[in-house]
Amino acid sequence: MALILGLESSCDETAAALVTSERRILAHKLAGQEAQHAPFGGVVPEIAARAHVEMLTPLVEAALDEAGIALDQVDAIAATAGPGLIGGVMVGLVTGKALAMATGKPLIAVNHLEGHALSPRLADPTLTFPYLLLLVSGGHCQLLLVEDVGTYRRLATTIDDAAGEAFDKTAKLLGLGFPGGPAVERAAAQGDAQAVPLPRPLLGSAEPHFSFAGLKSAVLRARDSGQYRPEDIAASFQQAVVDCLIDRTARALQQAPNATALVVAGGVAANQAVREALEGLAAQHRLRFVAPPLWLCTDNAAMIAWAGAERLAAGLTDDLDVPARARWPLDPMAEKARGAGVKA
Ligand code: KG4
Ligand code: ZN
Repeated sequence: MALILGLESSCDETAAALVTSERRILAHKLAGQEAQHAPFGGVVPEIAARAHVEMLTPLVEAALDEAGIALDQVDAIAATAGPGLIGGVMVGLVTGKALAMATGKPLIAVNHLEGHALSPRLADPTLTFPYLLLLVSGGHCQLLLVEDVGTYRRLATTIDDAAGEAFDKTAKLLGLGFPGGPAVERAAAQGDAQAVPLPRPLLGSAEPHFSFAGLKSAVLRARDSGQYRPEDIAASFQQAVVDCLIDRTARALQQAPNATALVVAGGVAANQAVREALEGLAAQHRLRFVAPPLWLCTDNAAMIAWAGAERLAAGLTDDLDVPARARWPLDPMAEKARGAGVKA
């Protein structure tokens, strides 16, 4: 059995967790920064980096305390090394390096996306490779065939905005507050999903890529028309996103006939309408549907510790000079999607 300390600081959550290779989560601690970023309607990188500096060490201490573990009982330190906001990534990775150096234990530099990709295996011991993963977060919208630890085939990505980003921008346009996803979901529950005609970008296209920028512009036009209630726009927007996610995922399933399960991860997986629609799609394809518990879907350090446990078991550890990376594609062989923007 190995005990891994995981650190996460790539966006606006600071987190530390202790997880064993036998899937026991001994502690997971998390400090959000919503209140600090809320006045700006989005994550401000400098504010995030400073908050990570202030919060990370106390969270590591709190995790060790809660688990009743001394630092030198840990077998390895896993830290997110990218992709993400570089200031925050550096805070977590440097902290991980310092702890690894102090204890003489191995460092594991974890790709944040790999954390999301493997987190379903922490929650579900019976989930085996390969599985099709829909990773939908604020920074990413990808379909990945997870073939093994360290082997990921990217079947699709977004050519512009990520799905979570579209939720966040829609919330901002409708004045629903930050973070946007949960706010849009709450408003949508009071609205009519058929009320506002909105586009479904790329629906039916041959490659399973995503696009959400046009949807966001259509939300802006609907708002400015003054014809619709915000709740109806929110519900119609959410339905359009669900339709796109389902159509694109169905397309990817055609390219992954050996997948043993359909898995969803990332912050948008917290959305009930998204989960239910994916569950229906999996049932249609007679596939298992796996969605980790909500707290494991959004950013956290348990998924980083778990990815560390999987990598350690595979003999994959890193030198102390491993760099922090703002961009770090999980599948370096994947072709750039046509029209792709700047996202990793
Ligand atoms: O995975 P995550 O915590 O952070 C990264 O982006 O890596 O995902 C955060 C994203 C945000 O865009 C947030 O608005 C979205 O997930 N989100 C949701 C919901 N909860 C969080 N989107 C739709 N519905 C939700 N209930
Ligand atoms: Zn994430």
